[in-house]
Amino acid sequence: MSALFTEFALKDVTLRNRIAVPPMCQYSAVDGYTNDWHLAHYTSIARGGAGLVIVEATAVSPEGRITPGCTGLWEDGQAEGMARIAAAIKAGGAVPGIQIAHAGRKASANRPWEGDDHIVDGDPRGWQTIAPSAIAFGANLPKVPQAMTLADIERVKADFVQAARRAREAGFEWLELHFAHGYLAQSFFSAHSNQRDDIYGGNADNRGRFLLETLAAVREVWPENLPLTARFGVIEYDGRDEETLLESIALTQKMKAGGLDLLNVSVGFTIPKTAIPWGPAFLAPIAERVRREAGLPVAASWGIDSPTIANRVVADGQMDLVMVGRALLADPHYPYRAAKDLGLDRPSWVLPAPYAHWLERYAMQA
Ligand SMILES: Cc1cc2nc3c(=O)[nH]c(=O)nc-3n(C[C@H](O)[C@H](O)[C@H](O)COP(=O)(O)O)c2cc1C
Repeated sequence: MSALFTEFALKDVTLRNRIAVPPMCQYSAVDGYTNDWHLAHYTSIARGGAGLVIVEATAVSPEGRITPGCTGLWEDGQAEGMARIAAAIKAGGAVPGIQIAHAGRKASANRPWEGDDHIVDGDPRGWQTIAPSAIAFGANLPKVPQAMTLADIERVKADFVQAARRAREAGFEWLELHFAHGYLAQSFFSAHSNQRDDIYGGNADNRGRFLLETLAAVREVWPENLPLTARFGVIEYDGRDEETLLESIALTQKMKAGGLDLLNVSVGFTIPKTAIPWGPAFLAPIAERVRREAGLPVAASWGIDSPTIANRVVADGQMDLVMVGRALLADPHYPYRAAKDLGLDRPSWVLPAPYAHWLERYAMQA
């Protein structure tokens, strides 16, 4: 049996294999509400055979959306559509997960295919952004955010808690807190974007406080028997990599002590100019280091398109789960293709019976 197709158990949840679909925004919601697009998209991805499907970055408040098309869980009505999506993912045989998020200073942007830049000031589609400090990201996102007050910090933590509660009520069994990619939580952690002089800024302990407190607050409402995970950019590729990694691993150890069950290891993306060593599975050695030094299960994505590489990073113990994003958009049946490539006996059985039966039969008659 190939490592990629072994089960993975975490808390009371068991994934049928190690292929996970990372959160991928569809930018197709209206006022945070999902629609037929989301249902069709997540249904097709789940029936493709992945073990875990994580629904896209879903905003905990309207101002936490990246774009006006982002999904939300800031009001109870939004949970109905999400419940249909969670049920569809489960019916497809995958575990339904969701990422809850606040975009911070990267919010109020146009959809990627409509510019991927900040909505210009004065355009009624946009809104005031907030962040730890009044420092813009720069490049295509020049809007200067409002520095958050202590009351703002409390409110956003409470928004995470309410969104987590709604996610659970909607039937999700795996929660991912978005602490990555230069969005709000990551921008608290990074000294590039956090220059506060209170207990939320300064040394690494203070810069990690918002993340730890958010995790602790969510842990109160998220069931103890279900995985509580986070996505966190542990490295920026800004020339200070070892220092950032050490700080990130120390924070991950604290998150583990605070109830984190798995880390989705990613890149910080806190500044526009970096030297990211793009290439197949470039994060695998970093993920392995976090896994070993922080002592908790990890997942990672970025360029793990090849089933052989996906299988190897699991077999070598570099990560517990492989997140496959764009390759799954291109081919929702990626897990089936991977099972065939890796020489699995009866690969069609990663698919649901209405597909598997015919592919199996066809294979026998061919
Ligand atoms: C269309 C699209 C939307 C994305 N949205 C999110 C998101 O909502 N949250 C997130 O953490 N990452 C997001 N990402 C990053 C992916 O989760 C993933 O890390 C990235 O695509 C790299 O993996 P890949 O090389 O397998 O595609 C998105 C990527 C794409 C292509």
